[in-house]
Amino acid sequence: MINRRRRLRASTAIRDLVRETILTPKDFILPIFVVEGENIKEEISSMPGNYHYSVDRLYEIIDEIEKAGIRGIILFGLPDTKDEVGTSAWTDDGIVQRGVRKIKELNKELLVITDICMCQFTSHGHCGIMDGCVIDNDATLHYLEKIALSHAKAGADMVAPSDMMDGRVGAIRNILDENNFKNVSIMSYSAKYSSAFYGPFREAAHSAPQSGDRKTYQMDPANIREAMCEIEDDIKEGADIVMVKPAISYLDVIRWARDRFDVPIAAYSVSGEFAMVKAAAEKGLINEKNIAMEMLTSIKRAGAHIIITYYAIDACRWLKED
Ligand code: PBG
Repeated sequence: MINRRRRLRASTAIRDLVRETILTPKDFILPIFVVEGENIKEEISSMPGNYHYSVDRLYEIIDEIEKAGIRGIILFGLPDTKDEVGTSAWTDDGIVQRGVRKIKELNKELLVITDICMCQFTSHGHCGIMDGCVIDNDATLHYLEKIALSHAKAGADMVAPSDMMDGRVGAIRNILDENNFKNVSIMSYSAKYSSAFYGPFREAAHSAPQSGDRKTYQMDPANIREAMCEIEDDIKEGADIVMVKPAISYLDVIRWARDRFDVPIAAYSVSGEFAMVKAAAEKGLINEKNIAMEMLTSIKRAGAHIIITYYAIDACRWLKED
């Protein structure tokens, strides 16, 4: 007797019936970049189809998000001024804080997540406070607390520390609790690798380190057991959601995390993953829709059901077409 697996592949209807992994618009979170200034909507050259928005034009992207059926965004801010300690990251009228307030004004229901990091705001472009040429872990925590608190005050529903300092989740949880923001949740970039896939983002966010690299704080791409330790630490410190980043080259990490931990797992399909597909599609080498949807499906199949992706709006449109 032959096992005729092909019987369940014979038509669209039967394939749909037996499909194990189903993407929905509810899975996606869209990154948004907000800049100082007025009347700005400028395409980001390294990430076609993504824009820098000034606060007064955020309504355009929020409108698109609502129409697509996306429920959450993660906000990145580009300040006008940078200094050694990233002061513009925690001021009340900082670019992220004003962006959050505007988005909440436009749509109260939309889940607003903010990236907690210093690299866009420091003159040296590192994710922490420098002591000579090293990043001072414990000195940085104090600044991360200030940033998280200011985002919560502005109305963020969730903060997402991406700096990779040790102890930051606990420090942020404490400061939020002490200030009566017990209901602001933490999505930690727990397994964040020192990856070349962030290149286009650093151009978009003006956040490349001026000297050196991020290898003393972000993880070595070769390590997976260490990622489990990072995730375990973050959960113990109070992370509500843990993230693996990047996604496509780290599907094994997502799977290990899914099998070992019971908190929700997010994956960030980063700028380089997006830009590679875009570039190949523009050259006519691949079918953009099919490749992008296959990649997103594989991320969910690996075990992440929260997917941060620059393809969020397109993916929602493509899902409707099918
Ligand atoms: C900030 C931050 C980065 C990304 C998200 N938050 C860049 C970095 O760590 O250098 C990357 C996102 C992307 O590539 O899409 N630390």
